[in-house]
Amino acid sequence: MNILMPFRTLIKEKCGVTFKSDALHLLEASINKRISATNLSGHEEYLKMVSGDEEELHRLIDLITINETYFLRERQHFGVLCDTLMPEMLGKASGKIRILSAGCSTGEEAYSILISLIEKYGAGIKSRIEIYGVDIDRNVIKTAKEAVYGNNSFRSDEPMLMKYFERRKDKRYGLVPMIREGVDFRVGNLLRLPYPEALRDMDIIFYRNVSIYFDRDVQKLIFQNLSNILNPEGYIFLSSTETYYHNVGILSLKEYNNVFLYHKKIEMEFDDRRKYKKPLLPPQPSSSPPSLLAITAQKAERSPPPVARPKSAIAEERAIAGERRDARVIFDEALADAMQKKYRQSIAKVDALLAVYPDFLKAYALKASVLVNLQELEATREVCGKILAQDEWNLEAHLLLGIVAKISEEHDEALRMFKGALYINATCWLAHFYLADIYFSLHDVLGAQREYGIALKLLETRGIEDHGLTYFPLSFPVEQLIHLCRHNIENIRSLHKKG
Ligand SMILES: C[S@@+](CC[C@H](N)C(=O)[O-])C[C@H]1O[C@@H](n2cnc3c(N)ncnc32)[C@H](O)[C@@H]1O
Repeated sequence: MNILMPFRTLIKEKCGVTFKSDALHLLEASINKRISATNLSGHEEYLKMVSGDEEELHRLIDLITINETYFLRERQHFGVLCDTLMPEMLGKASGKIRILSAGCSTGEEAYSILISLIEKYGAGIKSRIEIYGVDIDRNVIKTAKEAVYGNNSFRSDEPMLMKYFERRKDKRYGLVPMIREGVDFRVGNLLRLPYPEALRDMDIIFYRNVSIYFDRDVQKLIFQNLSNILNPEGYIFLSSTETYYHNVGILSLKEYNNVFLYHKKIEMEFDDRRKYKKPLLPPQPSSSPPSLLAITAQKAERSPPPVARPKSAIAEERAIAGERRDARVIFDEALADAMQKKYRQSIAKVDALLAVYPDFLKAYALKASVLVNLQELEATREVCGKILAQDEWNLEAHLLLGIVAKISEEHDEALRMFKGALYINATCWLAHFYLADIYFSLHDVLGAQREYGIALKLLETRGIEDHGLTYFPLSFPVEQLIHLCRHNIENIRSLHKKG
């Protein structure tokens, strides 16, 4: 039996995360790290230790979780929260509206919720909400509480965000206390019941990009747990890729402005003949006067009240925003150079940027993409190594290393990298496409057909943009790529028939 299987079972049982067979090497890397840190002789000895030692299990879990996140990820969700759900809830309830970021990682999601609400309703909204963040990984909760972020957390390109950060000497960005103190972060396991008192009775739950690492049974279990702590009339947001497979009869699916989310309808009490008798929690009569905050909220909708800030803070904010804008401008120029195939010029700009911002991972990624195009494979590997040293689960580094391995005809390594990329983001069509290509060259027709099929579906439903790379030189229209996938599938089918 594969020595990794008992670890896989243990991890699934304890935190829900499942390592499919093609991602087992990622689990193995984490186990090996712990074996050398504990000076044990090997897997068997470590399995004994981790099975009986809660602290060691936590250390392993801290290593295996994927914490990919950034501010205002899937921005449309924050729009629906602020423009639709909050006015509805503020109008009905007089108490606090409780919001949970479940699987909050390093805190960007929970802070994005607070910042969006303050942008819309003004700082006064803080007295009407409570925001919580929970994650199983102790390291990310520590980072969330510290609230200091590097460039990689700012991918949404939203200048307004910078108002809420202070530039530090180490070139990172510290969240202002007004926001940092507005979220309560805790270590917690979504699989383990009962949930602590503070995490029950939620009105809105953000549970995004967490379930992708779970098997169907765990997905259903955790969704049920979350719906149990959701108040009647509450909502759960999942990422757009996770939404549909949670439509399993636990909550009902609703749509607002093309955003789908789950809704808990008011529970009805049944009489003996299974007919509705009365709702357990009667909704507020429509004639009841709106609460004071609801009125403030409606006013705010027209003109959001500015957050009062001292002049020095405003000057500081402008300086920070200016510096970030400058970095952004240089980055955009480097990207434009790459698009125009002025590769050396692009690299020179990126190098200048990295000398000042050594944690600007997108800049490294751009450099690596340009180097691939120059066929400088060793240099690409080196730059990707730097990315992975800062962010072990970086999608772009996996994709680029996969491409380098594919060009070098190192099929096993290429498969490993593209499977790793899909573990990080299952909807990256480019990784599926490359996998299909490699399977085909290895005469694995079923694998190739499957992967082209998935790439095709992703291209049809999500478009070409979701390729995962900062600089992607392909200038095909999506229709051409779709055609290519169909053509390849057909080709494989006819070869298969002949064979
Ligand atoms: C990819 S991050 C998602 C972050 C954020 N929700 C977002 O969408 O950007 C997934 C997070 O889920 C956490 N996680 C995984 N299993 C968990 C569990 N059983 N209980 C709590 N958190 C869990 C991981 O530690 C990780 O930080």
